[in-house]
Amino acid sequence: MGETTQAAGAARQRSFGATGLCVPAIGLGTWAMERDEPARTREAVARAVELGLCHVDTAEMYGDGAVETLLGEALAGRRDAVFLASKVVPEHASYAGTLRACEASLRRLRTDRLDLYLLHWPGVEPLADTFRAFERLQADGKIRAWGVSNFCERDLAAALDVAGEGRIACNQVLYHLEERSIEHAVVPFCRAHRIAVVGYSPFGSGAFPAATSPGGRALAALGAARGLTPRQIALAFLVREPDLFAIPKAARPEHVSDNAGALGVVLGPDELAALEARFPRGPRRRGVPTA
Ligand SMILES: NC(=O)c1ccc[n+]([C@@H]2O[C@H](COP(=O)([O-])OP(=O)(O)OC[C@H]3O[C@@H](n4cnc5c(N)ncnc54)[C@H](OP(=O)(O)O)[C@@H]3O)[C@@H](O)[C@H]2O)c1
Repeated sequence: MGETTQAAGAARQRSFGATGLCVPAIGLGTWAMERDEPARTREAVARAVELGLCHVDTAEMYGDGAVETLLGEALAGRRDAVFLASKVVPEHASYAGTLRACEASLRRLRTDRLDLYLLHWPGVEPLADTFRAFERLQADGKIRAWGVSNFCERDLAAALDVAGEGRIACNQVLYHLEERSIEHAVVPFCRAHRIAVVGYSPFGSGAFPAATSPGGRALAALGAARGLTPRQIALAFLVREPDLFAIPKAARPEHVSDNAGALGVVLGPDELAALEARFPRGPRRRGVPTA
């Protein structure tokens, strides 16, 4: 395999932290999908799986379970093709509460196992209890891997003290072109401990740079030179390292197709430099930014 082909391959499917699992660099988010037109949304989910955006991210919180229910329907007959992730809210994350929440998610999703189960954000329940429940669920075959979300580097250090190395599969955090502050400390921490970084809201929850803005024009120019769309350029930037993943939400099939076009796109040094210049990393923040 030539170098470019290898790089393109790594950009499509990559190792997920220390789990030994292979996951596409780009997946599908589902936040607020209960508000989208149901038939079209089911079609979008089906298309995502078909085109390889098969890391499907959801949460018990989304639509109060309605999104998991919708996915249970949309993924019927497709379950084995999907890397399915869900999350427990901190208020449910006691030992017994986590076990209960997972069972409820499995029922709504009409499946017998999750590929990934996350603590949605740090809360008041002791991490030791939540993680003990995750380990129990994993031993019982109900989840394949587990991780955290919205953890800053200090939260991660505390989590690692509890869990030990190699147990926390990923940290899911806000990451888009105009909010790159996780690059200062969260990404290096995760990299040092083989924790995958899953970037959420890669299009700023819909606040993607307007076509008429300087950033929008820069993305369009880079895209035009490669036959790519601005969002494909943005996604390729956000997954430019082998431990970065992105989960754009798309409830329209044409948006899914657009996003899938970014799988395998490898940006060159000049393209990366142009994006660095137009969308600088910005200052370090205390904690992690949230949606
Ligand atoms: N862990 C956490 O705390 C947390 C927080 C926020 C989000 N997340 C996860 O991350 C996922 C993504 O983040 P997000 O939902 O905030 O927003 P996002 O992915 O940044 O943006 C979604 C918006 O972009 C639109 N879009 C998607 N692809 C497009 C395309 N190719 N062309 C034009 N528009 C496009 C979508 O439209 P349509 O839907 O109409 O297609 C939707 O309006 C969530 O859905 C969720 O799974 C996790």
